Amino acid sequence: MILKKAAVIGYPVKHSSSPKLHNFWLKSYNIKAEYGFLETKPEDFEKTILSLKDSGYVGVNITVPYKENAFDIVDMRSEAAINTGAVNTIYFDETGNMQGTNTDPYGFLRNIVSSQENFEFKAGKAVVIGAGGAARAVVAALVVDKATDVIIVNRTREKAEDIKKQMQGLGAGKIEVANWNERNDVLEGANLLVNTTTLGMEGQPLLDISLNKLPKSALVNDIVYKPRETQLLRNAGLRGNQVVDGLGMLLYQAQLSFKFWFGIEPEVNDILREYILATNN
Ligand code: ATR
Repeated sequence: MILKKAAVIGYPVKHSSSPKLHNFWLKSYNIKAEYGFLETKPEDFEKTILSLKDSGYVGVNITVPYKENAFDIVDMRSEAAINTGAVNTIYFDETGNMQGTNTDPYGFLRNIVSSQENFEFKAGKAVVIGAGGAARAVVAALVVDKATDVIIVNRTREKAEDIKKQMQGLGAGKIEVANWNERNDVLEGANLLVNTTTLGMEGQPLLDISLNKLPKSALVNDIVYKPRETQLLRNAGLRGNQVVDGLGMLLYQAQLSFKFWFGIEPEVNDILREYILATNN
């Protein structure tokens, strides 16, 4: 029997948790497949993608720095890929077309909803800190899928403006951009605060923000999951806000990729969470 293959493609790629996650599920569901690392130099990227099918891959994840390059190469793009301008998952459909999608918006939303089942996205505006790749997924999910108004605050204002320019009008939610020094003030009246920057991650500076103006009813989500309880989440929790940590976004984006490749929605549970945290160094 031919062993099915999947992998994560990036450069560098060894830091990725995806192989651990997917191999955990492959073993749990007794699927004869393996998920590896495909560290690929920029000059080899296109060739590697175009030879995936012939090399026996059911699909791949794409990580830094190739999510935008992958978008250009695939045969067809999902709405999530188009909304974010990035592809993190490639799979082949029944006719053999190379499909590109982005499972990060789904991962973000499912993480929130799995923790706060009745969260009302449209009850107020969302403040998104950051304007990198992760912010694109979060803003697309909010503005397009949840019709939520968003304020993006980023140190480099231009990058937030770029997201606004690309996504405004794609969904019912409106996008505003604020300056970095307005990050405390824009929290007034917000219903959701999401940190998409690397600030607060182990080895990185903390996110310097005052939550004084944030309503106590707002939900606070950090997509940083190392540490699982960031200082932002700790401070938010101490003043009475509901908080959702970032590990679930990683797990749920993987869940949807796995479903595209293997036809099963694998379970996200505490055993998996603990396994990933224990082996994540
Ligand atoms: P990802 O694709 O994971 O979102 P990224 O594209 O490198 O990562 O984006 C990192 C985000 O963290 C950016 O919004 C970045 O702000 P800039 O666009 O101004 O670079 C933000 N960030 C990183 N270090 C920061 C710092 N010291 N202060 C403020 N923002 C920071």
